[in-house]
Amino acid sequence: MPQPPPASRSPEPRRVKARFIGPLAVALMFIVCVFALAHYGIEARIRGEDLAERSTAVARLFDQKLHQDTNLMTATMRAMMANPALEDAFRRRDRVALETLGGPLFKVLRDENRITHIYLTRPDLVNNYRFHSPDDFGDEITRVTTVAARDTQAPAHGLELGPMGTLTLRLVVPWRKKGVLLGYIEIGEEVEYLIDEVQRSLSADLLVLVDKRYLSQQQWQRGQILMQREGDWHHFNTHAVVAQTAEKIPVALDDRMLVRLQTGERTEVIDQGRSLHMALLPVEDAGRRRIGDLVVMRDVTGLEATFQSSMIAVAVISLLAAGTVLGVFYLALDRVERDYRRQHDLEHRLLHLDTEHRRILQLEKLSSLGTMVGSIAHQLNNPLVGVVNLAQLAERGVDDPVRTRELLVEIRRAGEDCRAFVKRMLAFTKVSGFESKPTPLAALIEDTVLLFRQTDNHHLPVQVFLPDEPVVLTIDPVLVRHALFNLLVNAAQATSGDGAIAITLEAERDPLSQRPGWSLMVSDSGRGMPPEVLEKIFVPFYTTRSDGTGLGLPVVQHVALAHDGHVTAVSEPGLGTRIAIWIPESPTETRRDPEKLRTTN
Ligand SMILES: Nc1ncnc2c1ncn2[C@@H]1O[C@H](COP(=O)(O)OP(=O)(O)O)[C@@H](O)[C@H]1O
Ligand SMILES: [Mg+2]
Repeated sequence: MPQPPPASRSPEPRRVKARFIGPLAVALMFIVCVFALAHYGIEARIRGEDLAERSTAVARLFDQKLHQDTNLMTATMRAMMANPALEDAFRRRDRVALETLGGPLFKVLRDENRITHIYLTRPDLVNNYRFHSPDDFGDEITRVTTVAARDTQAPAHGLELGPMGTLTLRLVVPWRKKGVLLGYIEIGEEVEYLIDEVQRSLSADLLVLVDKRYLSQQQWQRGQILMQREGDWHHFNTHAVVAQTAEKIPVALDDRMLVRLQTGERTEVIDQGRSLHMALLPVEDAGRRRIGDLVVMRDVTGLEATFQSSMIAVAVISLLAAGTVLGVFYLALDRVERDYRRQHDLEHRLLHLDTEHRRILQLEKLSSLGTMVGSIAHQLNNPLVGVVNLAQLAERGVDDPVRTRELLVEIRRAGEDCRAFVKRMLAFTKVSGFESKPTPLAALIEDTVLLFRQTDNHHLPVQVFLPDEPVVLTIDPVLVRHALFNLLVNAAQATSGDGAIAITLEAERDPLSQRPGWSLMVSDSGRGMPPEVLEKIFVPFYTTRSDGTGLGLPVVQHVALAHDGHVTAVSEPGLGTRIAIWIPESPTETRRDPEKLRTTN
């Protein structure tokens, strides 16, 4: 048996899975990461925008409330200025009458509308009467709103910082009657209460800070005690905390953080397990001075948790999707790899078969030559014995020239017989490639039968049935002769002394393709074959004979295939066998590679 080819000729099939799954996993991880990052970016932006909007909403609401209160104060003033008695008392600078007429109204406004100040001031800005502090008067009021009302002779309003750190919304309106300026009426409210309202509306904690440069610590402390407040002077170096809605100022909100917030940065801090988002809005007074800041703090713990769980969900879903894709690819690649291996194995086996086939042909050649050598010797021996005997006779009868000539003619004939035989032998074993040429079949059959008769010692009669017209086919005569010879040898081996062999050449179409062609049949009346033998006769090395090689019929089939034809066999045990080689009328373009199909060399 041929050895398997060395490993170098058949490299291991490449590991498809190993080659693809790694890069695929990397690519998928990259896609998943990009996706997750993009998702994170979008979510973070939406969140940032949401928080920024909240901060702006605080500023808007604050402004809105200031505006509303200003309107309320305007209405209150109009009511006061429409009171002729009050007007008369103001004109007369009658402080007792003012108290009697305006005092009760101020109390109602203070208790119900948070109005904390009402002043009446002369045209020269000297205070005439303070409803909230009747004993202080006679001082000149130089606050921004009052001065603005005087300079423009129109209502002026805005936030003002008191010396004790109170932030008040003030409205100053010139009080005129029939074109004559009676003085100014001023009304004010402390705005700390506003932050509670904003906190309730927007659920954000607020912290009102006032720049210490505008405060004196002493006065501030006096104010705190006087107004029973709990402001914080010390938390920040630069700012005093005037009001706050949160119970405690977050620890993280220190001077450094304040500076960062003042640059417009928004930030998030963790305070007692809560996530706080912080932003800062500047607070300006009526004179457009930045007197402090409003810190907006929003508890975003819930938002943060939602954000985090959404991120985790996205990550898990992406990983699952990537895993599934990877799994599907793994299975697909697994199949590809298996197919690839199978194909590789097949190729490997085919390679083996090819090598085996070459060996078979070689063996067959040797064996058929071997069998023939005996017959050749036998065939040559007879005429040579004749030649020797005739030569002895000639030696003895040299005196009779007529007899000697006769004997020499006999000797020459025997020699020519030998030469003819050797010629046929050479034609039979001629070493050549697949050389097809137009070949008259009658002559080919005749030659082969002659050779067969001379090598066969059964001496069976061989009948030849040919069509009337000569048949010339483009074939390799050496190969076809060889095949026919093999069929004749098989027929002779299967047939006893009284049997006969027939060779028939008949036109026949290929049953499948309907191509025209010729069938060269060898029939015998020998022992035939049972079906289990018949189905194996084309298998190389299959033989039922003790001295057989099992290569004759595989070679016959090989020759037929080389001519684009085929072989069929029918047999009846006890009755005989017929084996036919079918060859197409005209050769096809796609004839098999002659190099590979060469049989006799
Ligand atoms: N004409 C035939 N009649 C009966 N049996 C045959 C005939 N030709 C072939 N066989 C069977 O087919 C087998 C294979 O034939 P072959 O391939 O020529 O190998 P071998 O002749 O060396 O056995 C033979 O051993 C024989 O059993
Ligand atoms: Mg044989």
